Amino acid sequence: MGKIHAVITGVGGYVPEYVLNNDELSRMVDTNDEWIMTRIGVKERRILNEEGLGTGYMARKAAKQLMQKLNYDPNTIDAVIVATSTADYHFPSTASIVLGHLGLKNAFAFDISAACCGFLYTMDLAAAMIESGRYKRIIVIGADKMSSVVDYTERATCPIFGDGAGAVMVEPSEDETLGWKDSKLSTDGKGLPFLCLKAGGSVCPPSYFTIDHKMHYIHQEGRTVFKYAVTAMSDLTAEIAERNGLNKDNLAWVVPHQANVRIIQAVAHRLELPMEKVMLNIQRYGNTSAGTLPLALWDYEKKLKKGDNLILTAFGAGFVSGAAYMTWAYDGDKL
Ligand code: UT7
Repeated sequence: MGKIHAVITGVGGYVPEYVLNNDELSRMVDTNDEWIMTRIGVKERRILNEEGLGTGYMARKAAKQLMQKLNYDPNTIDAVIVATSTADYHFPSTASIVLGHLGLKNAFAFDISAACCGFLYTMDLAAAMIESGRYKRIIVIGADKMSSVVDYTERATCPIFGDGAGAVMVEPSEDETLGWKDSKLSTDGKGLPFLCLKAGGSVCPPSYFTIDHKMHYIHQEGRTVFKYAVTAMSDLTAEIAERNGLNKDNLAWVVPHQANVRIIQAVAHRLELPMEKVMLNIQRYGNTSAGTLPLALWDYEKKLKKGDNLILTAFGAGFVSGAAYMTWAYDGDKL
């Protein structure tokens, strides 16, 4: 038997109904649509505002849509992996809760913590699992309820983030022209002081002090993160393109993490790629962390054609970064 290749065979997605637009945000903090659009590029974001619902709810909605699209027997799924930084609970894993709701009887489930690179890192892992020949169907989900960790009195961070989830099915293919082809993942351990959630973990458990000092919200030094993000995403994307002979002519799409439209434009510029070849939905959803890449694939699925060359790239807390090359395996408008 020839080498097994890992392909995505379907995409599902979910964003909450509630739309928080820049006008409403301008009544909550001292900001305005013009600043947010020029500095970040977000027009509106979705917020999961129903009490008692978390990341797992969105993850299972996305996965359910995926299962319905593909019409697979739930008993044929081998694994569910959820990439998230806003898990439903410290434990058990969000993936285990999603698995229960989906009624999967022959699968195992676990979460991956790699911030905004969560989906990319998990895809790399799932592809290796499929290529090993031991697993046939893996659901990879990127999901985050960023509104649960955003301080809506802090104007430097609250316009950026939103809530959402995307899910893909990863399966084997013997067609060597398709699937997950190459990746470069990188982690630079300098990230902690610049982008983190200071409290709630085992170093600093919740207390009245941590609540009084707003230590359960995102702490971000925006300018530093911005610089690292531009450099890491541009360098890694260029490296993956170069070593696989990809350029503006044979590359169909770049799928970048949606953190700031200026970061995305810098990546496109480095590859000399027109913005028409860059998936962009930051204006509607903001930064949904692990959700951005699968939500972009979900939004653009109908435009994707079998044989399209894609580069996915992301950057996040840690500092984690990565880029990967894959060839799309089906005509999106036919699924
Ligand atoms: O997904 C994880 C990775 N995260 C990222 O990639 C985020 C990377 N960082 C960024 O996207 C940008 O740094 C931000 C969007 C967070 C901030 O943009 P910036 O261009 O770096 O702005 P800044 O922080 O340098 O602030 C510039 C000015 C400041 O005013 P002064 O000191 O120049 O008077 C801020 O107080 O803009 C002010 N400002 C705002 N003004 C209106 C900051 N936030 C706002 C706001 N509305 N919402």
